[in-house]
Amino acid sequence: MKNKRRYFLKTACAPVVFSIFGISIIESCSSGDDDDLGTTPSPGSVDNSAESDQDKSLSIDLTNSNFSDLGDVGGWMNYSEEKMLLLRINTIEIRAFSNVCPHAGSNNQWSHSNSKFTCGNHNRSFNDDCSGSGLKLTCYSTMIEGNILTVSR
Ligand code: FES
Repeated sequence: MKNKRRYFLKTACAPVVFSIFGISIIESCSSGDDDDLGTTPSPGSVDNSAESDQDKSLSIDLTNSNFSDLGDVGGWMNYSEEKMLLLRINTIEIRAFSNVCPHAGSNNQWSHSNSKFTCGNHNRSFNDDCSGSGLKLTCYSTMIEGNILTVSR
């Protein structure tokens, strides 16, 4: 028993041990460099300097081939990494919506036609103009400057 406690104290993260004894220390147990997580960079970049999730903005380089579907008017895509639907309206406007279906939360069965997004989970359709009442897609504000689309959510 004594050896088990000694082993635990030797291997446990210091803040965990201190907190067990009632001493609070705010520190991560991680000892590595968190900057390099071994992931490939996303073509869109998120500005995390905003104060809350509601204020996050996302910048998307429209010249990136991942967004080629947005090149033509009417082109759309489900940008699932960022949980959003993007729709090219004209040369100066791309609309952005949450891809979480307002009906029951599905986010990966979308299609688009006749100015509506349809969720294939239960075949409910939602306007693509941020209008209407009742269940509707959550709309985000967007801005295009050059080849950069900025989505504020
Ligand atoms: S979850 Fe989308 S229609 Fe039901």
